[in-house]
Amino acid sequence: MVHRGYVLQSYGFVFFFAALHYAHGDLSYSIPEEMKRGSVIGNIAKDLGLDVGRLSTRKARIDTEANDRQYCGIDLRSGDLIVAERIDREEHCGDKPSCIFKFDLLLESPLELHRLSLQIQDINDNAPIFPKDTVKLEITESAGKGARYRVNAAHDADIGQNSVESYSLQQNDHFVLNIQTTTAGSKYGELVLDKELDREEQQEMKLLLTALDGGSPQKSGTVVIHVTVLDANDNAPVFSEAVYKSSLPENSPLKTPVITVSATDADEGVNGEVTYEFSRLSDKSRKLFSLDQKTGQIIVTGDIDYEEGSKYEMFVEAKDGYGLSSDTKVIIDISDVNDNAPVIYLKSLTDSIPENVSPGTEVGIINVQDRDSENNRQVRCSIQQNVPFKLVPSIKNYYSLVTTGQLDREVVSDYNITITATDEGSPPLSSSKTIQLSVADVNDNPPVFEEQVYSTYVTENNKPGSTLCSVTARDPDWRQNGTVIYSILPGEVNGAPVSSYLSVNGETGVIHAVRSLDYEQFRSFKVHVMARDNGSPPLSSNVTVSVFITDLNDNFPQILYPAPEGNSFMTELVPKAAQGGSLVSKVISVDADSGQNAWLSYHIVKSTDPGLFTIGLHSGEIRTQRDISESDNMKQNLIVAVKDNGQPSLSATCAMFLLISDNLAEVPELKDMSHDDNNSKLTSYLIIALVSVSTFFLTFIIVILGVRFCRRRKPRLLFDGAVAIPSAYLPPNYAEVDGTGTLRSTYNYDAYLTTGSRTSDFKFVRSYNDSTLPADQTLRKSPSDFAEAFGDSDGSPEWKQWGSLPGG
Ligand SMILES: *[C@@H]1O[C@H](CO)[C@@H](O)[C@H](O)[C@H]1NC(C)=O
Ligand SMILES: *[C@@H]1O[C@H](CO)[C@@H](O)[C@H](O)[C@H]1NC(C)=O
Ligand SMILES: *[C@@H]1O[C@H](CO)[C@@H](O)[C@H](O)[C@H]1NC(C)=O
Repeated sequence: MVHRGYVLQSYGFVFFFAALHYAHGDLSYSIPEEMKRGSVIGNIAKDLGLDVGRLSTRKARIDTEANDRQYCGIDLRSGDLIVAERIDREEHCGDKPSCIFKFDLLLESPLELHRLSLQIQDINDNAPIFPKDTVKLEITESAGKGARYRVNAAHDADIGQNSVESYSLQQNDHFVLNIQTTTAGSKYGELVLDKELDREEQQEMKLLLTALDGGSPQKSGTVVIHVTVLDANDNAPVFSEAVYKSSLPENSPLKTPVITVSATDADEGVNGEVTYEFSRLSDKSRKLFSLDQKTGQIIVTGDIDYEEGSKYEMFVEAKDGYGLSSDTKVIIDISDVNDNAPVIYLKSLTDSIPENVSPGTEVGIINVQDRDSENNRQVRCSIQQNVPFKLVPSIKNYYSLVTTGQLDREVVSDYNITITATDEGSPPLSSSKTIQLSVADVNDNPPVFEEQVYSTYVTENNKPGSTLCSVTARDPDWRQNGTVIYSILPGEVNGAPVSSYLSVNGETGVIHAVRSLDYEQFRSFKVHVMARDNGSPPLSSNVTVSVFITDLNDNFPQILYPAPEGNSFMTELVPKAAQGGSLVSKVISVDADSGQNAWLSYHIVKSTDPGLFTIGLHSGEIRTQRDISESDNMKQNLIVAVKDNGQPSLSATCAMFLLISDNLAEVPELKDMSHDDNNSKLTSYLIIALVSVSTFFLTFIIVILGVRFCRRRKPRLLFDGAVAIPSAYLPPNYAEVDGTGTLRSTYNYDAYLTTGSRTSDFKFVRSYNDSTLPADQTLRKSPSDFAEAFGDSDGSPEWKQWGSLPGG
């Protein structure tokens, strides 16, 4: 039943709701007026080839102009266009020959607009009506045969065939009916006198005039014509015009004169007195206009609104004193004034737009309407500058609101978009509407650390769990997309997992040490901390945290030479001939710490003869202060303290036994000096043998020397410049020992041994193991031991410092 560009209309038979056609993709339907609510007009889904199932998701709806009622609706399940409200053709179209309703069918995503036109066919639902129930005719008895008396036409609101078709007059003796058609096309009846009246015979009569329409079933209306037979009144009033036309701007003030009708009556006196009245007038017109009975002037009595009605037609009857009348038509055209501002309707709006939508995405649909006409309803729409949105004109007065650029919620999260609509009237009217759009978050920002690199300094021997530093990363996204979680990336520090050294608080980014760190083990390490947000998928970034361990004076100086204790052979021979300033021995010590904490200084804290030996403050070289004299005690004991320069400083002591002798034969006396009685007999014998041989050898040498250099009394220098440091006392090169202490593996450290010259510091870099240095024991034992050995408790500052040593 689909015909293109062609309207099926009545060809003698009634086409109920079947006539539809496409015109440029639009649909037209034709239905009779007064259909029941819910009646099906047609199936738009079928007619437009739309998928019924998608109608509701595409929000199919019928859109009417602002003030119109919704006469049609869509059954979204079946796609039927149905009648939503009773349609009265006469109410809407009056006597216009065709009555067409226009609707828009709106579908979203994508926006699609179809024009629907609905032609309303007339049905014969109105009967002809005479302006008055009774018409009074006063006819002189002198009226001759053939005299005509016009009876005002009956009016039928229906059109065409359904309007007034014929009249019939009740059977009577005097009058016959003649039907006339006016220039405007309406039919009226005239009574034609067929047989003269005789007032004396019959003074009055009542005749029934029936108006019939051409509808099926036929409807009719009647008027009673009351004929009074008079003596004389010959002329009916005659209007100067058959149709009066006037035009009036809308909103004209009350009492504005519109037009004056005038009719003249040739009769004199009462017979010539013309009065005017509306003979046929719609209710609407009745409220707007009034007619001066005497002058025939029509004035405004109500609010004239072009949008309510643009044309008014009324009939005015002029009547003389005895009731002869004629009528005329008055047409008042209302002209439009730009009195309606455009109205902006928001038809659809996306609740919140994800910030990653591509430019050009449609986020809303607006419709602009202006109730004025012509130029006054031409509307231009614009939105304010500097928002990433624009209006794209769509179909008719619809506009799509689309994005023009990339949105970024972190920069602007809400937009207030003001749409301004201006018509082209003079002066133009405009209106504006603000719509709020919010931008929804997308996880598009990774957390960013506040610093590019973090460095932290921690003093060694820190408590496990102590806070080292904190890292902070910011993520401007919303809620969980911006929630930052910190973690340490897996890695190794010195072969152990990094997690065994540091931990990070996932929420705060505070980094804690898991264990105590040891500067002597390593001085710095790097960890990578990751900040991750809670989005899906999450975004992350890394930062490097460098941890620098600072030295704490936690290592005691360690004396390498002379050997700490229990070795009775640590005896230096000092030739009796040694002059003041001769180097007799050297204390060698190292400190595992660094810097000031390893800057060692040497002091003699106790000696048998305080004035005899001096020690280089930093070199540890022991020299004689003066020449040795015969009176000096042969056995000299020195207690040397080695202190580092830390705060507080740590120290160690050692004992040095010096034997002033040129003769190794005196050595056995060493035994007495030794506090060690545990020497085995074998050792004693060995020593005796060795000393004997040496003594013999020395004696021999001396004899030879005495013979050869008899003039020389003394050797000038014996130990000058060369210190014999037994190689066994150099820092030993230990292979890795699997110890169970804190320092498990072999490590490198720098030990600074200072020499007297200071300028030529030399460095031992050795693999070294802590377990070989029972410095602890040495220190615990040595001070008291030596103090006791010297028989007094010296209150020197060095001793006091020991008491305050941490863990010493
Ligand atoms: C938008 O308008 C609302 C209410 O008028 C106001 O509270 C809000 O701050 C405005 N937003 C912007 C981004 O101007
Ligand atoms: C986070 O981002 C995702 C997309 O990446 C989005 O779907 C989600 O709604 C966002 N969450 C919040 C709380 O905005
Ligand atoms: C973080 O570090 C890991 C390991 O070094 C690397 O694979 C990853 O690509 C880094 N991620 C970022 C965002 O830099």
